[in-house]
Amino acid sequence: MATIDDKTIVQNYFNAEGFDRWRRIYGGGEVNKVQLDIREGHQQTVDTVLGWFRADNNLEGRTICDAGCGVGSLSIPLAQMGAKVSGSDISAKMVGEAEDRAKQALGEANLPQFSVQDLEQLSGQYDTVVCLDVLIHYPQEKAAEMIKHLSSLATNRVILSFAPKTVAYTLLKKVGDFFPGPSKATRAYLHREQDVVAALQAAGWQVERTGMTKTSFYFSRILEAKRLPEGVTAPASTMESQSSATLAWAIFVLIAGLAALAFWSAL
Ligand SMILES: C[S@@+](CC[C@H](N)C(=O)[O-])C[C@H]1O[C@@H](n2cnc3c(N)ncnc32)[C@H](O)[C@@H]1O
Repeated sequence: MATIDDKTIVQNYFNAEGFDRWRRIYGGGEVNKVQLDIREGHQQTVDTVLGWFRADNNLEGRTICDAGCGVGSLSIPLAQMGAKVSGSDISAKMVGEAEDRAKQALGEANLPQFSVQDLEQLSGQYDTVVCLDVLIHYPQEKAAEMIKHLSSLATNRVILSFAPKTVAYTLLKKVGDFFPGPSKATRAYLHREQDVVAALQAAGWQVERTGMTKTSFYFSRILEAKRLPEGVTAPASTMESQSSATLAWAIFVLIAGLAALAFWSAL
């Protein structure tokens, strides 16, 4: 029997119930407590990335590819800051919403170029390629292929985020997996940081900046990688090890997860 692959499931989800759900989470209207927590966590991730761009102080006219742009949460502020943004997403509904929001926020000035595209089909060259909260939808092998492809599009840097596979988050996810609900319409994959870093290094990048967002229901590790200078090989391993997640933290997250399960089904 043919099985539907992750990509088709994700595309269908973000063109249907996932669109309604995430459009609300990534918006300003009323949402339940879990969704509010995720909204705030996601905004922190976006703000971290915007802060990195701001700190570099050289956005005017830079080309940025926002792969898996969703409703434009990052593309729109980057365009407001003067960048030339190409935002793309596998979901036509998400792209339509991004276009509407961009017109509202920017009028006709420096609008991002939005397109409906699987990120593995993207071509061209960009100063920076960003891919936020997309890899969570794919297993490690596919995520590594995606990182390789995204790397081939970037001349200067790659910024991506993923849900880190630590002891604590693995436990929390296992608890959540017991409970049915629309949030389970797509699988959520956690990724080991060393695997993500290895994929970046294999593509010729070294991690220069890192960030971490964690709220009660949202957790996202953010990496910025730049080109390794010619002839330089990457150091063996510089990232935080999975073992650094202490037992105390694991227990805390588990208790927080259990306490919050009452809200989970409301998602
Ligand atoms: C959780 S949302 C994050 C959206 C956006 N990056 C943000 O942080 O606001 C995940 C997005 O990834 C998109 N996506 C998933 N797989 C994709 C793929 N293979 N190519 C392009 N977009 C993809 C989904 O349609 C969805 O809009």
